[in-house]
Amino acid sequence: MENFITLTIIDRNNVEHSIQAPTDMNLNLMELAKMEGHGVKGECGGMALCATCQVYIESNHTLPEQSEAELDMLDQAFFVQDNSRLGCQIYLRPELDELKVRIAPEQD
Ligand code: FES
Repeated sequence: MENFITLTIIDRNNVEHSIQAPTDMNLNLMELAKMEGHGVKGECGGMALCATCQVYIESNHTLPEQSEAELDMLDQAFFVQDNSRLGCQIYLRPELDELKVRIAPEQD
């Protein structure tokens, strides 16, 4: 499908969900996971200020570099791993087709 990619989101119960997502709506991964109902809160609305959208990247995609704000937030977050990213900072683009992410445990 044009302008759609397929992603896999692994929820907190270790269940994989294959999701078709549009790449032309400026959606980010936090918004997508929230819409799909996988318990991602996105409390700060995507400002890199809460880490409730943390995910672990499980595929080998090259993602956009982390901003200072994202690095600072992950510095203060719980359950951070080498492959942690803030979902709200990852916008759905064609090059992210087949991306696989795991939702991190709840922050609070
Ligand atoms: S939604 Fe708050 S840091 Fe991503």
